[in-house]
Amino acid sequence: MTTVKTLFKEDEIRARVDALALEIVGEIGTDFTVIGVLKGAFVFMADLVRALDRAGAEPRIELMRLSSYGRGMTTSGEVKLVGNTPDDFEGKPVLLVDDIVDTGLSMAYGKDLLAGRNAENVWTCALLDKPSRRKVEINADFVGFEIDDVFVVGYGIDYAERFRHLPYIGLVEADE
Ligand code: IMP
Ligand code: MG
Repeated sequence: MTTVKTLFKEDEIRARVDALALEIVGEIGTDFTVIGVLKGAFVFMADLVRALDRAGAEPRIELMRLSSYGRGMTTSGEVKLVGNTPDDFEGKPVLLVDDIVDTGLSMAYGKDLLAGRNAENVWTCALLDKPSRRKVEINADFVGFEIDDVFVVGYGIDYAERFRHLPYIGLVEADE
């Protein structure tokens, strides 16, 4: 059996996402492309683009699929692109959006993929940041919440493809 203990409630997440959108527009303006990293960022991204709209932005939306985790709680350390990389940014800024920066391998890989395309600049945003887990030196430009080295699920984030549907973020507790 697995139980999930709430870490961030729905209304806390909503308030933070709204504030993040204001930070983003303040920094990069209203005309840019959001690239969400599948699958983990899909819920965060859906809320973030609507918060960006309320903050006055008119972002274009792209998606990119990266895979790194197997079915467990630790990263395989090997990041792979599944499918194509979006590449037509008309010289405008790009905002790469992921759920969590953990070792940093995925965000560094995604940022490298997009660098050298025709973006004016590649900005990065993550809902959650686990700085203590970093293996490569990368920090997201915009972070929702900093957390300790704990395994979280919900709000798009999974454990072996479960719990993505939870509207809140929680800690997985395995009990015998
Ligand atoms: P990184 O490449 O090690 O930074 O890992 C980033 C990806 O690993 C995130 O986008 C998540 O999909 C996944 N991940 C990292 N930490 C967790 C966690 O606590 N729960 C579920 N997935 C996680
Ligand atoms: Mg991910």
